[in-house]
Amino acid sequence: MPDTRPAPDGGATGCTLITGAAGGIGAAVADRLASSADVVALLDVDEEALWRVQSTVEARGAKAATFTADISDPDAIERTVARIEHTCGPIRALAHAAGVLDTGAVVDTGDDTARRLVDVNVIGLLNVLRAVGGRMRDRRAGVIVVIGSNAAGTPRFDMGVYGATKAAAEMLTRVAGLELAEYGVRANLVAPGSTDTPMLRSMYADDRTMLERSVRGDPTRFRVGIPLGRIAEPSDIAAAVDFLLSDDARHITMQTLYVDGGASFRA
Ligand code: NAI
Repeated sequence: MPDTRPAPDGGATGCTLITGAAGGIGAAVADRLASSADVVALLDVDEEALWRVQSTVEARGAKAATFTADISDPDAIERTVARIEHTCGPIRALAHAAGVLDTGAVVDTGDDTARRLVDVNVIGLLNVLRAVGGRMRDRRAGVIVVIGSNAAGTPRFDMGVYGATKAAAEMLTRVAGLELAEYGVRANLVAPGSTDTPMLRSMYADDRTMLERSVRGDPTRFRVGIPLGRIAEPSDIAAAVDFLLSDDARHITMQTLYVDGGASFRA
């Protein structure tokens, strides 16, 4: 049977949408892609922080536009994605970094905390995949990278609900990759371990020794350490996103690339 699929679309050219672009990993992705993308659309709930990232991206020579929207609101995301395409052109690449973290024992998790984690990390991703992935399918071109977490596959104290949302995000992305493959659209995840961002610092704010314990390991919490002996910089994660968005990864889809210094001991 002849292969009727379109040729790979040439990677991260055209409009690149980065969600969570005001924060640690999203901002690092914006900085990294500024040299290869024509136009970068930066989306977040934090408008002022977005403007700072926009200046950095523009200083590197790319065009950048900011869009304030809450990914957990499906109508807002559909409207915003339409506006992004009107302003910046068809979205050829999506890096989805928006997400929230809350910690606590499963049995102590409150309704509001659980709902927020699911609303942003799962429904928010679904909203973005529907709006952006649907358009990519119609155009038979595009590439998607979602930031997951190594907490999706490793039971960790106080990370039950967060880890569950990241496991759901992983399966949503892989199935989207399966369904979009025949349209020439790839979808992969990058799964970071501990990465030095505002999210991580908020988790360790009350106890700086936790940072050291996450590097060395903590037998009292059945937690192994990080074999490479350091916390990731956001740029470490951005480099992996850049690779998976690029045409160098044109035969890679439905995969999760762990960038955690070996912490999850993946087989
Ligand atoms: P961050 O908190 O520094 O940045 C997250 C960004 O997402 C923020 O700018 C925030 O305003 C935005 N955001 C949150 N809710 C949103 C919503 N409803 N709509 C639009 N934007 C929203 O966090 P960080 O560390 O940069 O995290 C990025 C991704 O990486 C998240 O999905 C997180 O779960 C994941 N991750 C982070 C790790 C870490 O150690 N920092 C480890 C593993 C995964």
